[in-house]
Amino acid sequence: MKSISNETNLRDKKILLRLDLNVPLIKGKISDTTRIDKILPTLKFLNKQKTKIIILSHVGRPKGKISRELSLKPICENLQDQLGLNVRLITQNINEIEKKDFFDKFEEEILMLENIRFYPEEEKNDKNFAKHLANLGDLYVNDAFSCSHRLHTSIVEISRFLPSFSGLQLDLEVDALTKITSQITKPISCIIGGSKISTKIEVIKNLIPKFDNIIIVGGMANNFIEYFGHNIGKSIKEKNCKKIIEEIISFSKKENCEIIYPEDVLVSKDLDGSSEKKKLNEIFNDEMILDIGPKTINKIASIINSSKTILWNGPAGYFENPNFANGSIEIAKTIIKNNKLNRIFSVAGGGDTVSLLNNIKAIESFNFVSTAGGAFIEYLEGKKLPGITALNR
Ligand code: 3PG
Repeated sequence: MKSISNETNLRDKKILLRLDLNVPLIKGKISDTTRIDKILPTLKFLNKQKTKIIILSHVGRPKGKISRELSLKPICENLQDQLGLNVRLITQNINEIEKKDFFDKFEEEILMLENIRFYPEEEKNDKNFAKHLANLGDLYVNDAFSCSHRLHTSIVEISRFLPSFSGLQLDLEVDALTKITSQITKPISCIIGGSKISTKIEVIKNLIPKFDNIIIVGGMANNFIEYFGHNIGKSIKEKNCKKIIEEIISFSKKENCEIIYPEDVLVSKDLDGSSEKKKLNEIFNDEMILDIGPKTINKIASIINSSKTILWNGPAGYFENPNFANGSIEIAKTIIKNNKLNRIFSVAGGGDTVSLLNNIKAIESFNFVSTAGGAFIEYLEGKKLPGITALNR
């Protein structure tokens, strides 16, 4: 994979830059700018190299149709404000634009094409659409790791028609993920949560042979607690998981990976209630598990303290209610403490984990926090991402 950061002589080159500006929009307002903030270094780098930038991105899932609510306009404005540079949104039909129509004004440096998913060709990885897009620029840069699991025109096919490079953020993401999946410094431990174990089974199976410890937290830990003979009251759980759990246990024994699940918990009768500490054999039928307890926090802390690499995906409890945020906050604090002492390499990812870390302003305290959703999980499952394969072609 060739990185654009190693290229010289980029002056006046027209760069087709695929970004993931898929930020949450509520009535046209951006409710979380993390993905825009993260991409600023790439734009500043390309601007410093005196390139002409044509941004390609999607927001939402308009399914090949123009949708006013899914215009990139608010995102373009936010980017312009943050960069302090003019960013012009091109709303004209892409199929009618030619290379000569761009950068007609001398001072113009950054253009943004309207939502690429307004075009049905985008999600078909269409050859002619790819050729047309490629004709608009001189080079292609993919800085959208979080879209690289999609076999889409602006991610895959376009790279057949232009010299193609990875962007700065994509490099950082792949570097961090390599450090937790192949070039590992051991001991390595993973804290994994989420409500459905079936959505994480492939990740867990792929990590077991490489990891020393896999700590199961969040809603899916309830299935483990119940499997080991405890009443979990009215806690959330996934049905028919016995086979999955047995598979995880026997595979982990074979591979010498320890599976850890909560030893004590915090419960409540409802989601917005207060918390009560419970041993696993003390849970009543009308209670639900909403966080890990102090003994479990201590156990996780000691595993983190003796690890050199940590991967965290999925909060430990129902952190939306502050009474059940303690487990996740303590995990974050222990990782941050070790990070400050340069004792571990830490990677976190997943929508809920990122929003938790955002809430406690801890994003910068990890070595890497991935804002990718599906792409992050597919990479951890050991799948080849088509967008990354295309850059390696
Ligand atoms: C994401 O938010 O994970 C990326 O922007 C990809 O979006 P998608 O799941 O709609 O393809």
